[in-house]
Amino acid sequence: MARKIIIDTDPGIDDALAIFYALAAPELEILGLTTVFGNGSTQMSTANALHLLEIAGRTDIPVAHGAERPMGMAFQGGAPQVHGADAQGNLFLPAPAGKPVSMHAAQFIIDQVMAAPGEITLVPLAPLTNIALAFLLKPDLPQYIREIVLMGGAAFVPGNITPAAEANIWNDPEAADIVFGADCNIVMIGLDVTEHLFLPGSRLEQFASLGNPRADHLARILPCYRDFHVRQLGLDGIHVHDSSTISYLLRPDLFTLEGHPVRVELTGLGRGKTWPAVGRSDVESAWAGRRPIQIAVKVDADAALALEWEHHSRTLGR
Ligand code: RIB
Ligand code: CA
Repeated sequence: MARKIIIDTDPGIDDALAIFYALAAPELEILGLTTVFGNGSTQMSTANALHLLEIAGRTDIPVAHGAERPMGMAFQGGAPQVHGADAQGNLFLPAPAGKPVSMHAAQFIIDQVMAAPGEITLVPLAPLTNIALAFLLKPDLPQYIREIVLMGGAAFVPGNITPAAEANIWNDPEAADIVFGADCNIVMIGLDVTEHLFLPGSRLEQFASLGNPRADHLARILPCYRDFHVRQLGLDGIHVHDSSTISYLLRPDLFTLEGHPVRVELTGLGRGKTWPAVGRSDVESAWAGRRPIQIAVKVDADAALALEWEHHSRTLGR
């Protein structure tokens, strides 16, 4: 039986890769996309989520519009320099034909989880605001979730938006600290592994010849993301951050995990830093009572990238 997942997302060029990858995997059943700000506004995320499903011919999958601002600050303005001013590579697509469901994303998550207790995996690829809101609305929700496999954080490596913080966590640290404190299984796929998953420019150029509508869209948006990596990081290619969660769901054996309770720094220069309790920190009360988060620390990058590429090459048949 396919594993039921809800993808919480701010699409986003690497979110598009992850969503298309998941859609091509019969082992996964996507119950819905829930949207949040991050790479752009929530409005933009919802329009882009609807677009991606239209491109893939999967308008049967519902989209639920979520939180429009972080819990403890204003929306930080997105990442037009990374993902384009429309968060889809500056394509400025016309408005999608579809509409989101009338329910808030947090309520959508609660209803779906409670309709199939213990079966649903949440896959957040964006700030954790919707998930934290769902936990605040229904505090016992974590015990009914099968697992959370999230892209975010940097445990033992520097951040990518500040020296301390990874972007998804930095965009709503308060929400992230609530989620990392929840009583459920959480796998954190952060920069510790995603920065080892690198698709070179030569590979990106091959999307255009794969000959399916998902790959055609990716071929149009990837140059923007590639340019950012060239300009800012001096790398000709891209990190496939969000897709790593899908590789983990399909082949967890490719990843090495370490379990440590995690707190999120909420103040000062380190705001958004994910702090694992390691070394002597097990005596620190701030981490006490928290379940260990399974932090990905190593990945078989060649195998994960090959798996992802093979999925992008597939023609969707239903
Ligand atoms: O740090 C990488 C994450 O932030 C990804 O989810 C990507 O979409 C970005 O905005
Ligand atoms: Ca994302």
